[in-house]
Amino acid sequence: MGQEVIRLVQEENELSLAVAVDQAGGEGILRNLKDYTGPADVLVDFSNHAAIWDIMDYCESKKLPVVVATTGHTEKELERIAEATEKIPVFHSANMSVGVALLTRLVKQAAAIFRGCDVEIIEKHHNRKLDAPSGTALLLADAVKTQRPDAVYQYGREGIHKREPNEIGIHALRMGSVVGEHEVIFSTDSQTITLKHEAHDRALFAEGAIAAANYIIDKPKGLYRMENLLGE
Ligand SMILES: NC(=O)c1ccc[n+]([C@@H]2O[C@H](COP(=O)([O-])OP(=O)(O)OC[C@H]3O[C@@H](n4cnc5c(N)ncnc54)[C@H](OP(=O)(O)O)[C@@H]3O)[C@@H](O)[C@H]2O)c1
Repeated sequence: MGQEVIRLVQEENELSLAVAVDQAGGEGILRNLKDYTGPADVLVDFSNHAAIWDIMDYCESKKLPVVVATTGHTEKELERIAEATEKIPVFHSANMSVGVALLTRLVKQAAAIFRGCDVEIIEKHHNRKLDAPSGTALLLADAVKTQRPDAVYQYGREGIHKREPNEIGIHALRMGSVVGEHEVIFSTDSQTITLKHEAHDRALFAEGAIAAANYIIDKPKGLYRMENLLGE
């Protein structure tokens, strides 16, 4: 994803790359964020969840707006992100696609209308993805939960027991080079509604991250999400 962001920034006349950081190194790439002392307007993070501590310390000390696109954060790491929103603008989304932002909105609507139905979420990703379920699957489950506060997340199923009515089934498939698919299924005894998003090219996440970076650059401290970018 970092490479995609670099490519898009280089294509865009109004943007320029201050620095690229990756612990794996590479030509023209810095290994440690703290070693960069030059100017910057915004930081875009596509790395590993554990990097959040260094990123937030750095951004707070420089008063630098940050787009957190990385997924898989622990509770403690999420708390660190929340803490940073009290000092700097933080754009945080497990999915930077505008299409998924729209899907999330539609999922909320469907969950509000079909309150008693069974909800199942299926996500598919390439076989190199580290975290499961995807951050987006959890984001979609959270969207359902806004309408059904008693919902309980059920990650996969095995054994012999019936489905509880308040379960949200969450299923992660890992295969080949699938960029990212998310399907939310609402089923009653008489009908099924399926809402689905398919990402065809990873560039879409980089495009969204750059749109998010442009969006927060002049915003006051606080938490910003794709809903803000999408508009009310
Ligand atoms: N929000 C979205 O829309 C969206 C879309 C796509 C991906 N993502 C998320 O973005 C993250 C990156 O995805 P990816 O596909 O680009 O993964 P990737 O190919 O594994 O790239 C991550 C890179 O970050 C490096 N890295 C790890 N820890 C670091 C640290 N502390 N400081 C600096 N660099 C570090 C890794 O180095 P090593 O190889 O040495 O570990 C690796 O080169 C994942 O969490 C993924 O789920 C989010």
